[in-house]
Amino acid sequence: MIKAPRGTRDLLPPDTALWNFVEAAVRDVFRIYNFHEIRTPIFESTELFARGVGEETDIVSKEMYTWEDKGRAESDKSQMLTLRPENTAGVVRAYIENKLWDRGLNKLFYIGPQFRRERPQKGRYRQFYQIGAEVIGPAPSGSESPARDAEVLEMLATLLDRLGITGWTLELNSVGCKDCRPAFNEALRKALEPVTATMCADCQRRAVTNPLRVFDCKVPADQPIIEKLPRLSEFLDDACRKNFVDVQEILTAVEIPFTVNDRLVRGLDYYTRTAFEFTHGALGAQNAILGGGRYDGLSEALGGPPAPGIGFAIGEDRLVMSLTQSAESVLRKPDVYIAPLGVGMNREAARLARELRRHDVIVELGDESFRLKKAFETASKASIRYVLIAGENEAQSGAFTLKNIESGEQISVARAELAERIRKR
Ligand code: HAM
Repeated sequence: MIKAPRGTRDLLPPDTALWNFVEAAVRDVFRIYNFHEIRTPIFESTELFARGVGEETDIVSKEMYTWEDKGRAESDKSQMLTLRPENTAGVVRAYIENKLWDRGLNKLFYIGPQFRRERPQKGRYRQFYQIGAEVIGPAPSGSESPARDAEVLEMLATLLDRLGITGWTLELNSVGCKDCRPAFNEALRKALEPVTATMCADCQRRAVTNPLRVFDCKVPADQPIIEKLPRLSEFLDDACRKNFVDVQEILTAVEIPFTVNDRLVRGLDYYTRTAFEFTHGALGAQNAILGGGRYDGLSEALGGPPAPGIGFAIGEDRLVMSLTQSAESVLRKPDVYIAPLGVGMNREAARLARELRRHDVIVELGDESFRLKKAFETASKASIRYVLIAGENEAQSGAFTLKNIESGEQISVARAELAERIRKR
Protein backbone atom coordinates (compact mmCIF):
# COMPACT_ATOMS: atom_id res chain seq x y z
CA MET A 1 0.00 0.00 0.00
CA ILE A 2 1.31 3.44 -0.86
CA LYS A 3 0.99 5.75 2.12
CA ALA A 4 1.08 9.53 2.41
CA PRO A 5 4.68 10.67 3.13
CA ARG A 6 5.77 10.97 6.76
CA GLY A 7 4.59 14.23 8.31
CA THR A 8 1.78 14.71 5.78
CA ARG A 9 -1.85 13.68 6.13
CA ASP A 10 -5.16 13.64 4.35
CA LEU A 11 -7.71 16.10 5.65
CA LEU A 12 -11.01 14.27 5.34
CA PRO A 13 -14.67 15.07 5.78
CA PRO A 14 -16.23 15.82 8.20
CA ASP A 15 -13.05 17.54 9.55
CA THR A 16 -12.67 19.59 6.39
CA ALA A 17 -15.90 21.33 7.43
CA LEU A 18 -14.02 22.72 10.44
CA TRP A 19 -11.22 23.97 8.18
CA ASN A 20 -13.77 25.70 5.95
CA PHE A 21 -15.51 27.15 9.00
CA VAL A 22 -12.19 28.61 10.22
CA GLU A 23 -11.28 29.98 6.80
CA ALA A 24 -14.69 31.60 6.33
CA ALA A 25 -14.43 33.23 9.78
CA VAL A 26 -10.91 34.57 9.21
CA ARG A 27 -11.86 35.92 5.77
CA ASP A 28 -14.68 37.86 7.44
CA VAL A 29 -12.25 39.32 9.98
CA PHE A 30 -9.65 40.20 7.31
CA ARG A 31 -12.40 41.97 5.37
CA ILE A 32 -13.37 44.29 8.22
CA TYR A 33 -9.70 45.20 8.77
CA ASN A 34 -9.35 45.85 5.01
CA PHE A 35 -6.82 43.10 4.21
CA HIS A 36 -6.82 41.61 0.71
CA GLU A 37 -5.80 38.12 -0.36
CA ILE A 38 -2.52 37.33 -2.07
CA ARG A 39 -1.54 33.92 -3.48
CA THR A 40 2.16 33.44 -4.06
CA PRO A 41 3.85 30.35 -5.58
CA ILE A 42 4.28 27.28 -3.40
CA PHE A 43 7.93 27.10 -4.50
CA GLU A 44 10.38 29.95 -4.78
CA SER A 45 14.12 30.41 -5.42
CA THR A 46 16.09 28.94 -2.55
CA GLU A 47 17.96 32.23 -2.34
CA LEU A 48 14.78 34.03 -1.25
CA PHE A 49 14.64 32.06 2.00
CA ALA A 50 18.41 32.08 2.54
CA ARG A 51 18.40 35.90 2.34
CA GLY A 52 14.97 36.48 3.88
CA VAL A 53 14.68 33.97 6.72
CA GLY A 54 18.45 33.64 7.28
CA GLU A 55 21.09 30.99 6.52
CA GLU A 56 21.74 30.23 10.18
CA THR A 57 18.11 29.58 11.16
CA ASP A 58 16.93 26.00 11.74
CA ILE A 59 14.38 26.45 8.97
CA VAL A 60 16.95 27.27 6.28
CA SER A 61 19.87 25.20 7.54
CA LYS A 62 17.93 21.98 8.26
CA GLU A 63 14.31 21.95 7.31
CA MET A 64 13.80 23.05 3.71
CA TYR A 65 12.77 20.84 0.79
CA THR A 66 15.19 22.02 -1.86
CA TRP A 67 16.05 20.63 -5.28
CA GLU A 68 17.97 21.54 -8.37
CA ASP A 69 15.55 22.35 -11.17
CA LYS A 70 17.40 21.54 -14.38
CA GLY A 71 16.88 23.69 -17.47
CA ARG A 72 15.12 21.95 -20.37
CA ALA A 73 17.85 22.63 -22.92
CA GLU A 74 21.56 21.89 -22.41
CA SER A 75 22.25 25.62 -22.51
CA ASP A 76 19.62 26.50 -19.87
CA LYS A 77 21.00 27.18 -16.44
CA SER A 78 19.68 25.07 -13.59
CA GLN A 79 18.13 26.76 -10.61
CA MET A 80 17.82 25.88 -6.92
CA LEU A 81 14.19 25.86 -5.82
CA THR A 82 12.55 25.33 -2.43
CA LEU A 83 9.05 24.44 -1.25
CA ARG A 84 8.10 27.48 0.82
CA PRO A 85 8.71 26.92 4.55
CA GLU A 86 6.84 30.16 5.31
CA ASN A 87 5.13 32.89 3.33
CA THR A 88 6.47 36.25 4.55
CA ALA A 89 9.53 36.17 2.30
CA GLY A 90 7.31 35.28 -0.69
CA VAL A 91 4.86 38.10 0.06
CA VAL A 92 7.66 40.66 0.37
CA ARG A 93 9.20 39.36 -2.86
CA ALA A 94 5.80 39.78 -4.58
CA TYR A 95 5.47 43.26 -3.05
CA ILE A 96 8.80 44.26 -4.60
CA GLU A 97 8.38 42.45 -7.93
CA ASN A 98 4.86 43.82 -8.56
CA LYS A 99 5.60 47.27 -7.09
CA LEU A 100 2.53 46.88 -4.90
CA TRP A 101 3.15 50.27 -3.31
CA ASP A 102 2.13 51.83 -6.66
CA ARG A 103 -1.27 50.13 -6.38
CA GLY A 104 -1.79 51.09 -2.76
CA LEU A 105 -1.78 47.42 -1.76
CA ASN A 106 -0.16 47.15 1.63
CA LYS A 107 -2.39 44.89 3.74
CA LEU A 108 -2.29 41.35 2.45
CA PHE A 109 -3.39 37.96 3.76
CA TYR A 110 -2.80 34.37 2.66
CA ILE A 111 -4.03 30.89 3.45
CA GLY A 112 -2.05 27.89 2.27
CA PRO A 113 0.38 25.01 2.78
CA GLN A 114 3.97 25.40 3.97
CA PHE A 115 6.66 22.74 4.15
CA ARG A 116 9.34 22.03 6.76
CA ARG A 117 11.30 18.82 7.27
CA GLU A 118 10.75 18.70 11.03
CA ARG A 119 10.32 15.68 13.28
CA PRO A 120 6.58 14.98 13.05
CA GLN A 121 4.58 14.93 16.28
CA LYS A 122 1.23 16.14 17.58
CA GLY A 123 0.66 19.58 16.07
CA ARG A 124 3.82 19.40 13.96
CA TYR A 125 3.70 18.30 10.34
CA ARG A 126 5.97 18.46 7.33
CA GLN A 127 3.15 19.86 5.25
CA PHE A 128 1.17 22.23 7.43
CA TYR A 129 -1.11 25.17 6.76
CA GLN A 130 -0.75 28.79 7.67
CA ILE A 131 -3.20 31.67 7.72
CA GLY A 132 -1.09 34.80 7.66
CA ALA A 133 -1.24 38.54 7.09
CA GLU A 134 1.33 41.23 6.39
CA VAL A 135 1.23 45.03 6.50
CA ILE A 136 4.04 46.36 4.30
CA GLY A 137 5.19 49.70 3.03
CA PRO A 138 6.38 53.13 4.03
CA ALA A 139 4.23 56.12 5.01
CA PRO A 140 1.44 57.04 4.31
CA SER A 141 0.27 53.49 5.05
CA GLY A 142 2.00 53.90 8.37
CA SER A 143 3.22 50.34 8.68
CA GLU A 144 6.21 51.63 10.67
CA SER A 145 3.90 52.92 13.41
CA PRO A 146 3.52 51.09 16.73
CA ALA A 147 -0.21 51.61 16.09
CA ARG A 148 0.09 48.93 13.36
CA ASP A 149 1.70 46.43 15.74
CA ALA A 150 -1.11 46.94 18.22
CA GLU A 151 -3.78 46.83 15.50
CA VAL A 152 -2.46 43.52 14.15
CA LEU A 153 -2.43 42.04 17.66
CA GLU A 154 -5.94 43.32 18.39
CA MET A 155 -7.12 41.77 15.09
CA LEU A 156 -5.68 38.43 16.21
CA ALA A 157 -7.50 38.61 19.53
CA THR A 158 -10.74 39.39 17.65
CA LEU A 159 -10.16 36.47 15.35
CA LEU A 160 -9.62 33.98 18.17
CA ASP A 161 -12.65 35.40 20.03
CA ARG A 162 -14.86 34.95 16.98
CA LEU A 163 -13.79 31.33 16.70
CA GLY A 164 -14.64 30.85 20.37
CA ILE A 165 -11.01 30.10 21.27
CA THR A 166 -10.30 31.19 24.82
CA GLY A 167 -7.41 30.44 27.14
CA TRP A 168 -4.68 31.88 24.92
CA THR A 169 -1.66 33.83 26.13
CA LEU A 170 0.00 36.60 24.14
CA GLU A 171 3.76 36.74 24.71
CA LEU A 172 5.45 39.90 23.56
CA ASN A 173 9.05 41.06 23.18
CA SER A 174 11.13 43.64 21.39
CA VAL A 175 14.15 42.24 19.55
CA GLY A 176 15.62 45.67 18.80
CA CYS A 177 16.74 47.04 15.47
CA LYS A 178 19.80 47.25 13.23
CA ASP A 179 21.13 50.08 15.40
CA CYS A 180 21.01 48.37 18.80
CA ARG A 181 21.44 44.73 17.74
CA PRO A 182 25.24 44.94 17.04
CA ALA A 183 26.04 45.91 20.65
CA PHE A 184 23.87 43.06 21.90
CA ASN A 185 25.47 40.58 19.49
CA GLU A 186 28.88 41.69 20.72
CA ALA A 187 27.89 41.21 24.37
CA LEU A 188 26.42 37.79 23.52
CA ARG A 189 29.61 36.72 21.72
CA LYS A 190 31.67 37.74 24.71
CA ALA A 191 29.41 35.93 27.17
CA LEU A 192 29.38 32.82 24.98
CA GLU A 193 33.16 32.61 24.45
CA PRO A 194 34.04 30.87 27.72
CA VAL A 195 31.04 28.49 27.63
CA THR A 196 30.48 27.48 24.00
CA ALA A 197 32.80 24.46 24.18
CA THR A 198 30.29 22.81 26.55
CA MET A 199 27.29 23.57 24.33
CA CYS A 200 25.72 21.58 21.46
CA ALA A 201 27.32 21.61 18.01
CA ASP A 202 24.63 23.95 16.63
CA CYS A 203 25.24 26.51 19.39
CA GLN A 204 29.01 26.34 18.85
CA ARG A 205 28.42 27.33 15.24
CA ARG A 206 25.72 29.92 16.06
CA ALA A 207 27.97 31.57 18.66
CA VAL A 208 30.30 32.56 15.84
CA THR A 209 27.98 33.18 12.90
CA ASN A 210 24.73 34.45 14.46
CA PRO A 211 24.72 34.46 18.28
CA LEU A 212 21.06 35.51 18.61
CA ARG A 213 20.07 32.10 17.23
CA VAL A 214 21.52 30.45 20.37
CA PHE A 215 18.18 31.39 21.99
CA ASP A 216 16.41 28.98 19.58
CA CYS A 217 18.31 26.04 21.11
CA LYS A 218 16.06 23.32 22.58
CA VAL A 219 18.85 21.07 23.96
CA PRO A 220 18.07 20.65 27.71
CA ALA A 221 21.73 20.66 28.79
CA ASP A 222 22.27 24.08 27.17
CA GLN A 223 19.34 25.78 28.90
CA PRO A 224 21.11 26.71 32.19
CA ILE A 225 23.84 28.40 30.13
CA ILE A 226 21.34 30.23 27.92
CA GLU A 227 19.44 31.34 31.04
CA LYS A 228 22.49 33.32 32.19
CA LEU A 229 23.18 35.09 28.85
CA PRO A 230 22.57 38.84 28.53
CA ARG A 231 19.00 39.86 27.65
CA LEU A 232 18.08 41.92 24.62
CA SER A 233 15.89 44.11 26.80
CA GLU A 234 19.03 45.54 28.41
CA PHE A 235 20.38 46.70 25.04
CA LEU A 236 17.37 48.35 23.36
CA ASP A 237 18.08 51.90 22.21
CA ASP A 238 15.76 54.76 23.17
CA ALA A 239 13.72 54.60 19.96
CA CYS A 240 13.11 50.84 20.28
CA ARG A 241 12.30 51.18 23.95
CA LYS A 242 9.73 53.93 23.26
CA ASN A 243 8.26 51.94 20.39
CA PHE A 244 7.79 48.92 22.65
CA VAL A 245 6.14 51.02 25.37
CA ASP A 246 3.80 52.60 22.77
CA VAL A 247 2.70 49.17 21.54
CA GLN A 248 2.01 48.02 25.10
CA GLU A 249 0.05 51.17 25.94
CA ILE A 250 -2.27 50.78 22.95
CA LEU A 251 -2.79 47.10 23.77
CA THR A 252 -3.74 48.05 27.31
CA ALA A 253 -6.13 50.73 25.97
CA VAL A 254 -7.93 48.15 23.81
CA GLU A 255 -7.91 45.62 26.67
CA ILE A 256 -5.77 42.94 25.08
CA PRO A 257 -3.93 41.05 27.82
CA PHE A 258 -0.24 40.21 27.21
CA THR A 259 2.91 39.20 29.04
CA VAL A 260 6.41 40.41 28.19
CA ASN A 261 8.84 37.54 27.59
CA ASP A 262 12.33 38.89 26.99
CA ARG A 263 13.60 35.44 25.92
CA LEU A 264 11.31 35.38 22.91
CA VAL A 265 13.44 35.89 19.78
CA ARG A 266 11.44 33.72 17.28
CA GLY A 267 13.31 31.43 14.90
CA LEU A 268 13.62 33.74 11.91
CA ASP A 269 16.31 36.34 11.24
CA TYR A 270 14.16 39.06 9.72
CA TYR A 271 12.52 40.27 12.93
CA THR A 272 13.08 43.77 14.32
CA ARG A 273 11.40 45.37 17.34
CA THR A 274 8.04 43.71 18.14
CA ALA A 275 8.02 39.91 18.15
CA PHE A 276 5.11 37.87 19.51
CA GLU A 277 3.54 34.47 19.92
CA PHE A 278 0.10 33.34 21.01
CA THR A 279 0.25 30.07 22.91
CA HIS A 280 -2.60 27.80 23.92
CA GLY A 281 -2.62 25.42 26.84
CA ALA A 282 -4.61 22.65 25.14
CA LEU A 283 -2.01 22.09 22.43
CA GLY A 284 0.69 20.19 24.33
CA ALA A 285 4.38 20.57 23.49
CA GLN A 286 3.77 22.43 20.22
CA ASN A 287 1.78 25.13 21.97
CA ALA A 288 2.41 28.13 19.65
CA ILE A 289 -0.85 28.67 17.82
CA LEU A 290 0.66 31.59 15.90
CA GLY A 291 3.71 33.78 15.70
CA GLY A 292 4.80 36.99 14.11
CA GLY A 293 6.50 40.31 14.39
CA ARG A 294 7.96 43.33 12.69
CA TYR A 295 10.53 43.01 9.88
CA ASP A 296 11.62 46.52 8.96
CA GLY A 297 14.73 45.61 6.92
CA LEU A 298 13.38 42.63 4.98
CA SER A 299 12.38 44.46 1.81
CA GLU A 300 15.86 46.01 1.53
CA ALA A 301 17.54 42.65 2.25
CA LEU A 302 15.62 41.27 -0.74
CA GLY A 303 16.69 44.12 -3.02
CA GLY A 304 13.56 46.24 -2.59
CA PRO A 305 12.93 49.78 -1.39
CA PRO A 306 12.77 50.60 2.32
CA ALA A 307 9.41 49.17 3.43
CA PRO A 308 8.79 48.51 7.09
CA GLY A 309 6.45 45.61 7.76
CA ILE A 310 4.66 43.62 10.39
CA GLY A 311 2.71 40.40 10.19
CA PHE A 312 1.92 37.00 11.59
CA ALA A 313 1.13 33.44 10.62
CA ILE A 314 -1.36 31.23 12.41
CA GLY A 315 -0.73 27.48 12.32
CA GLU A 316 -4.09 26.43 10.89
CA ASP A 317 -3.60 22.79 11.94
CA ARG A 318 -3.16 23.98 15.53
CA LEU A 319 -6.00 26.49 15.29
CA VAL A 320 -8.36 23.71 14.23
CA MET A 321 -7.09 21.57 17.14
CA SER A 322 -7.96 24.38 19.57
CA LEU A 323 -11.59 24.69 18.46
CA THR A 324 -14.29 23.52 20.81
CA GLN A 325 -16.84 23.04 18.03
CA SER A 326 -17.26 19.57 16.54
CA ALA A 327 -17.10 19.03 12.79
CA GLU A 328 -20.72 17.82 12.89
CA SER A 329 -21.88 21.04 14.48
CA VAL A 330 -20.62 23.18 11.59
CA LEU A 331 -21.56 20.75 8.82
CA ARG A 332 -24.84 21.19 6.92
CA LYS A 333 -26.43 17.79 6.43
CA PRO A 334 -28.43 16.91 3.31
CA ASP A 335 -32.00 18.12 3.58
CA VAL A 336 -33.75 15.52 1.46
CA TYR A 337 -33.28 12.18 -0.21
CA ILE A 338 -35.20 11.86 -3.47
CA ALA A 339 -36.40 8.34 -4.14
CA PRO A 340 -37.45 7.76 -7.76
CA LEU A 341 -40.16 5.10 -7.65
CA GLY A 342 -40.48 2.89 -10.72
CA VAL A 343 -38.97 2.51 -14.14
CA GLY A 344 -38.40 5.78 -16.00
CA MET A 345 -38.63 7.94 -12.84
CA ASN A 346 -34.93 8.88 -12.75
CA ARG A 347 -35.78 11.65 -15.22
CA GLU A 348 -38.50 13.14 -13.03
CA ALA A 349 -36.27 12.83 -9.94
CA ALA A 350 -33.40 14.61 -11.73
CA ARG A 351 -35.78 17.47 -12.59
CA LEU A 352 -36.95 17.72 -8.99
CA ALA A 353 -33.38 17.67 -7.67
CA ARG A 354 -32.43 20.47 -10.03
CA GLU A 355 -35.38 22.61 -8.94
CA LEU A 356 -34.69 22.07 -5.24
CA ARG A 357 -30.93 22.67 -5.48
CA ARG A 358 -31.67 25.96 -7.19
CA HIS A 359 -33.35 26.91 -3.92
CA ASP A 360 -30.24 25.89 -1.93
CA VAL A 361 -31.77 22.62 -0.71
CA ILE A 362 -29.07 19.93 -0.22
CA VAL A 363 -30.27 16.91 -2.17
CA GLU A 364 -29.15 13.29 -2.24
CA LEU A 365 -30.50 11.56 -5.28
CA GLY A 366 -31.35 7.84 -5.44
CA ASP A 367 -31.98 5.52 -8.36
CA GLU A 368 -35.19 4.09 -9.76
CA SER A 369 -33.92 0.53 -9.22
CA PHE A 370 -33.81 1.03 -5.42
CA ARG A 371 -36.72 -0.12 -3.33
CA LEU A 372 -38.44 2.38 -1.10
CA LYS A 373 -37.25 0.50 1.99
CA LYS A 374 -33.66 1.00 0.90
CA ALA A 375 -34.28 4.72 0.36
CA PHE A 376 -35.64 5.07 3.90
CA GLU A 377 -32.70 3.15 5.34
CA THR A 378 -30.15 5.22 3.41
CA ALA A 379 -31.75 8.49 4.50
CA SER A 380 -31.95 7.38 8.09
CA LYS A 381 -28.30 6.23 8.19
CA ALA A 382 -27.13 9.54 6.73
CA SER A 383 -29.36 11.52 9.14
CA ILE A 384 -31.30 13.04 6.23
CA ARG A 385 -34.56 14.35 7.57
CA TYR A 386 -36.85 13.85 4.56
CA VAL A 387 -37.42 11.33 1.81
CA LEU A 388 -39.22 12.71 -1.22
CA ILE A 389 -40.98 10.05 -3.24
CA ALA A 390 -40.96 10.68 -6.98
CA GLY A 391 -43.43 8.18 -8.46
CA GLU A 392 -45.57 8.28 -11.58
CA ASN A 393 -48.76 9.26 -9.73
CA GLU A 394 -47.03 12.07 -7.90
CA ALA A 395 -45.51 13.43 -11.11
CA GLN A 396 -48.91 13.46 -12.79
CA SER A 397 -50.79 15.03 -9.91
CA GLY A 398 -48.03 17.57 -9.14
CA ALA A 399 -48.18 16.72 -5.40
CA PHE A 400 -45.35 14.73 -3.91
CA THR A 401 -45.11 12.55 -0.82
CA LEU A 402 -42.64 13.85 1.72
CA LYS A 403 -41.80 11.55 4.58
CA ASN A 404 -40.18 12.81 7.76
CA ILE A 405 -37.82 9.99 8.72
CA GLU A 406 -37.62 10.89 12.40
CA SER A 407 -41.32 11.30 13.11
CA GLY A 408 -42.60 8.95 10.41
CA GLU A 409 -45.07 11.66 9.39
CA GLN A 410 -45.98 11.59 5.70
CA ILE A 411 -47.54 14.54 3.88
CA SER A 412 -48.41 15.51 0.35
CA VAL A 413 -46.79 18.75 -0.87
CA ALA A 414 -47.37 20.67 -4.11
CA ARG A 415 -44.32 20.83 -6.36
CA ALA A 416 -43.99 24.61 -6.04
CA GLU A 417 -43.95 24.44 -2.25
CA LEU A 418 -41.47 21.61 -1.82
CA ALA A 419 -38.33 23.71 -1.32
CA GLU A 420 -39.95 25.90 1.30
CA ARG A 421 -41.49 22.95 3.14
CA ILE A 422 -38.20 21.02 3.21
CA ARG A 423 -36.11 23.96 4.40
CA LYS A 424 -38.59 24.85 7.14
CA ARG A 425 -37.17 23.03 10.14
P1 HAM B 1 6.60 30.65 12.48
O1 HAM B 1 6.62 30.91 13.94
O2 HAM B 1 7.74 29.91 11.92
O3 HAM B 1 6.46 32.06 11.77
O4 HAM B 1 5.26 29.90 12.13
C1 HAM B 1 4.02 30.43 12.51
C2 HAM B 1 3.10 29.34 13.05
O5 HAM B 1 3.01 28.26 12.10
C3 HAM B 1 3.61 28.66 14.31
O6 HAM B 1 3.28 29.41 15.45
C4 HAM B 1 2.86 27.36 14.27
O7 HAM B 1 1.53 27.52 14.76
C5 HAM B 1 2.77 27.05 12.77
N1 HAM B 1 3.79 26.05 12.41
C6 HAM B 1 5.10 26.24 12.18
N2 HAM B 1 5.71 25.08 11.88
C7 HAM B 1 4.75 24.12 11.92
C8 HAM B 1 4.75 22.70 11.70
N3 HAM B 1 5.83 22.04 11.32
N4 HAM B 1 3.57 22.05 11.83
C9 HAM B 1 2.43 22.71 12.20
N5 HAM B 1 2.39 24.04 12.40
C10 HAM B 1 3.53 24.74 12.27
C11 HAM B 1 6.40 32.26 10.43
O8 HAM B 1 6.23 31.36 9.64
C12 HAM B 1 6.42 33.70 10.02
N6 HAM B 1 6.36 33.77 8.54
C13 HAM B 1 5.29 34.47 10.65
C14 HAM B 1 5.28 35.91 10.27
C15 HAM B 1 4.52 36.51 9.35
N7 HAM B 1 6.07 36.85 10.77
C16 HAM B 1 5.81 37.99 10.20
N8 HAM B 1 4.88 37.79 9.31
